[in-house]
Amino acid sequence: MEQFVIEGGKPLYGTVRIHGAKNAALPILAATLLTGGIHEIHDVPRLKDIEVMGRILGALGARFSRAGTRIQVDASTLRTCHIPDVLMRQMRSSIFLMGPLLSRLGEVSVTRPGGCAIGSRPIDLHLYGLQSLGAHIEEKDGLIRCSASKLTGATIHFKTPSVGATENVMLAAVKAEGTTVIRNAAREPEIVDLQSFLNRMGADVQGAGTDTIIIHGVRELHPASHEIIPDRIVAGTLAVAAAAAGGEVTLTNTIPDHLRYTLHLLNKAGVSVSPDGDAIRIRSDGRHRAVGRIETQPYPGFPTDMQPQMMAFLCLADGTSVICERIFDARLKHVSELARMGADLTVEGNTVWIHGVPHLTGADVEATDLRAGAALVVAGLSARGVTRVGGVQHIDRGYEGLEEMLSSLGGRIYRNSRSDSD
Ligand code: UD1
Repeated sequence: MEQFVIEGGKPLYGTVRIHGAKNAALPILAATLLTGGIHEIHDVPRLKDIEVMGRILGALGARFSRAGTRIQVDASTLRTCHIPDVLMRQMRSSIFLMGPLLSRLGEVSVTRPGGCAIGSRPIDLHLYGLQSLGAHIEEKDGLIRCSASKLTGATIHFKTPSVGATENVMLAAVKAEGTTVIRNAAREPEIVDLQSFLNRMGADVQGAGTDTIIIHGVRELHPASHEIIPDRIVAGTLAVAAAAAGGEVTLTNTIPDHLRYTLHLLNKAGVSVSPDGDAIRIRSDGRHRAVGRIETQPYPGFPTDMQPQMMAFLCLADGTSVICERIFDARLKHVSELARMGADLTVEGNTVWIHGVPHLTGADVEATDLRAGAALVVAGLSARGVTRVGGVQHIDRGYEGLEEMLSSLGGRIYRNSRSDSD
């Protein structure tokens, strides 16, 4: 097993380019199944989840190939509608392959994705959305079979905005007969990127980025070429790392508006944040103040995917901040690990009081999930002494070469197999 070894206390200086967004690339890759022909997707990060998606597309009969950050998919040879359980278990996001498979083949069968490290993660909204379009759903022995001789447009009102369910319905509805209206849709930028790709394929989708998405079904789609938007969570993580460790860092290939809430909080904490076109410059002397109470919310609110990293940063603020996690029910596993590094945190339910301390101290800690791992790296960079972060495989799911990006900024971080240090 690998770990990151971090010698903390070194400020970060320099420029780093942000790679394409995993959470935009995954549904767009799912969309390539909607029609045969060669799709070309650019700036797709080299990450485990994308690799798993490639294997799933391959198992379904599509041709998937990568050259650098460009991926080509040709689903002309799609031959099965069953997603193998072994692959389904590796990536919960495979659930939104249901929409395109149902649309293209009229049926799909998947195993129910279980809970995951950050909470229970139900799929009722996905199933409700597909059922509303006319799909018949049967569940037996953990296998969900979904079939529809024809999909018909409908009005779908989500009780809570779900990114994945919104995407699943968009994917199922683009070729449905008639008009589909999604109300209380999630508004994340990745959904806007999916809309752009679908429209390049000849679909008629409007409203992504607002809470109402309107999809007029079309008969035919064609392959398309598309460049994935930059990853706002990777950019946010590096911004927070620079703010916590101190220094001056410029992030390029960003869309600053997508990071509005995160940048607002850094500003409020006293960090200098200067967006300039597609770049963001972060300047910090490593000292900052508490930000009051924040709650994770669907976009454009404070993203749950930035919650752990922001908490790591606030551990060193002057004063007390409060973070309430409102999206996932078990997304506070980093709290005990940060406490091992000297953070002063009080937890009650899903709320954490973060009493700032003057410094953190390096320790051996374990990443339990992707963003918790990123938070421990942020903490390690700003701590005194050496931090060893285990569970790097979780971090690799969402950051392409995180240690290389940070090393290029002067951070002392390297990857090690755990037995080397035992
Ligand atoms: C996506 C992101 C993930 C991010 C999350 C919230 C991808 C691949 N992943 O996950 O990184 O943390 O959005 O921003 O894009 N819910 C239900 N029933 C459902 C579906 C969801 O109750 O059928 C609830 C969830 O439990 C959660 C909330 O809706 O409380 C939002 O989850 P959702 O937006 O669906 O997250 P994902 O799409 O899984």
